[in-house]
Amino acid sequence: MLNQIDKNKKKVAEEAVKYIKNGMTVGLGSGSTIDWMLKKLGESVKDGLDIKGIPTSVKTEKLAREYGIPLTDFTNVLEIDLAIDGADEIDDDLSLLKGGGGSLVREKIVDSVAKELIIIADESKLVSGLGDFLLPVEVVQFGWELTAKHISQLNCVPYLRKKSNNEIFITDNNNYILDCSFEKIPQPIRLHEKLKLLTGVVETGLFVGMVDRVIIGSDNGIRTHV
Ligand code: 5RP
Repeated sequence: MLNQIDKNKKKVAEEAVKYIKNGMTVGLGSGSTIDWMLKKLGESVKDGLDIKGIPTSVKTEKLAREYGIPLTDFTNVLEIDLAIDGADEIDDDLSLLKGGGGSLVREKIVDSVAKELIIIADESKLVSGLGDFLLPVEVVQFGWELTAKHISQLNCVPYLRKKSNNEIFITDNNNYILDCSFEKIPQPIRLHEKLKLLTGVVETGLFVGMVDRVIIGSDNGIRTHV
């Protein structure tokens, strides 16, 4: 039996698949909402939809294979028609905070090159300003303590991400994640630029000016923001 949040995630996931057309190369995001999308896409592929997916995480790649979704990679294609991804926070300008699942680097590589980016989420992800969710920043392992010190000078507290068994979380790119507690993020693009200037920072979970469409699921149904 699904809880209401999962029902809402499933609804938007199924709606998003309607935007996928024959012949498309499709960026496949990461996270639990995307897992629902992969399930539906797998069914559509079985019914004859002819697409190729590019996964944004090892977990998505594994699940896509299980669902029989044909995959490709950047040795074969350099363009993506449509990417569908989730988010941890979405503000009024459709700026995103992402990376709760730790896949932000591959997500940003794929989402930023897509001709169209659709974000799917349940309505709990809508916020008036980003920053309640800790901002994930992927950093190289070497000297991460120093990188954390430099990040903290931007007025936040960075926490090294650990798994539930207390081992350090390692990303698909063999890096660490610092989850950064900012009081508020009033100018996401400015903060992203400052973070990117720090040596040791690979990428931030701020996705600004990238989204074409957000599909939100609530108990009352689905609504779209463009
Ligand atoms: C992973 C992400 C996910 O898209 C984000 O965490 C949302 O996940 P979910 O759909 O499980 O709420 O950015 O890096």
